[in-house]
Amino acid sequence: MKEKLEKIKADAVREIQNSDGLEKLNEVRVAFLGKKGELTAVLKGMKDVRAEERPKVGQLVNETRESIEKLIEETKRKMEAAERDIRLKQEVIDVTLPAKKNRVGHRHPNTIALEEVERIFIGMGYEVVEGPEVEYDYYNFEALNIPANHPAKDEQDTFYVNDKIVLRTQTSPVQVRQMEKGKLPIRMIAPGRVFRADEVDATHSPSFHQIEGLVIDKNVTFADLKGTLQEFAKELFGEDTKVKFRPHHFPFTEPSAEVDVTCFKCGGKGCRFCKGEGWIEILGCGMVHPRVLEMSGIDPEEYSGFAFGVGLERIALLKYEIDDMRLLYENDDRFLKQF
Ligand code: DAH
Repeated sequence: MKEKLEKIKADAVREIQNSDGLEKLNEVRVAFLGKKGELTAVLKGMKDVRAEERPKVGQLVNETRESIEKLIEETKRKMEAAERDIRLKQEVIDVTLPAKKNRVGHRHPNTIALEEVERIFIGMGYEVVEGPEVEYDYYNFEALNIPANHPAKDEQDTFYVNDKIVLRTQTSPVQVRQMEKGKLPIRMIAPGRVFRADEVDATHSPSFHQIEGLVIDKNVTFADLKGTLQEFAKELFGEDTKVKFRPHHFPFTEPSAEVDVTCFKCGGKGCRFCKGEGWIEILGCGMVHPRVLEMSGIDPEEYSGFAFGVGLERIALLKYEIDDMRLLYENDDRFLKQF
């Protein structure tokens, strides 16, 4: 019996040492220690052993089992460690390699300019509102004191959906929509897309953006308009910026003006950027026409107000010294990623 057990042990040791991996090792374990294994077979043969020898043989079997188990356990740990080492070597990361860069997009120059304008007016207590791009002819023209046969309607030739509905040519209709709500006073800006039947060139596009401004309250005067736009220009283009109000005509304001700012490139001396003028036009404005107030249900005897309209692209082009509006819409990555 003893020799038999020693042979089993020697066989097991040899096979364990010859195992080339965890799988093979497991097979060896099953072959020697498993339910149908060699050692179990010996235990089953115990009934043939003489009773007084049984404890000794039993002890021998257990010792053999223990030493085989121990060797398998040790070998298993060594194999696992070796495998881990191999894996670590394979998965090693070279931290000196250049990383794959994730190119993150960023805001469009129009958006940057808009957020800047919004920041300035929100700082002055204005609310940002929006109106529809597909608009009633009434809001886009009629309620702004531009009746059916008014020549101003020609200047803003647009896309008609039908007799009564147009793609808005300006953000000014949002003024009317806000006034009709009847909540006074009003201090709002309304940014948004507008449309005109224009050919594309360096300064024109059939679709562009404006930012409308409207203030209605008691005792609002032209001085308030001047102060507000002066402040806006300084915030946007720099502390030294001066503004000039040139008389102009808009049907929905009276009096009306166009506003120029001193060229922020040359400070007003005249340069290539301002085409030698020293001044750059940035917006239209005026005191809201009494008839416009009346049509929107506001009493012009009690309330007055001012309005202004800024071209967003114009601001973006000026701020970033871009000389062709088309660049803003072509989505050329080489252009856009500069901002
Ligand atoms: N809506 C005008 C345009 O598109 C711009 C404008 C001028 C808006 C004067 C105003 C304003 O609110 O008071 O040409």
